[in-house]
Amino acid sequence: RTVLVLNGPNLGRLGSREPDVYGSANLDDLRVLLTEAAPQDVTVDVRQTDDEAELIHWLYEAVDTKTPVVLNPAAFTHYSYALRDAAALVTKAGIPLVEVHISNPHARETFRHTSVVSAVATGVIAGFGFDSYRLALDHIVRLA
Ligand code: DQA
Repeated sequence: RTVLVLNGPNLGRLGSREPDVYGSANLDDLRVLLTEAAPQDVTVDVRQTDDEAELIHWLYEAVDTKTPVVLNPAAFTHYSYALRDAAALVTKAGIPLVEVHISNPHARETFRHTSVVSAVATGVIAGFGFDSYRLALDHIVRLA
């Protein structure tokens, strides 16, 4: 079994980007944390892109391979209807997609209070640092 953990723009800079908001751990640390948290038969495929098209194509891949998704859409969360429509393809196919955020966007600037993805996500976990991803993974692993 595989779980796709997809990260949107600027998350490749985790560790050095606004550590007061996002912490000092980077994507490699996230990879280690999730691999250790996952059962042995689960492969955690952690990816990051700054490219909207690439992220959309990864969601198509999830549909085609019936692979559950943990998605941190980063800033695309707040305005990408294209990403939302691709996320809807996943959940409408009956495949779980959990939207996650490291920070709690509701406690931040007003533009972060809107997610165009949440309505088509299976659920949303935000505000728990890297634990947001671990909680999402726990849910997905429990399903199958
Ligand atoms: C984020 C929150 C978004 O508002 C922001 O644009 C990000 C990261 C988070 O994980 O807290 O890039 O998705």
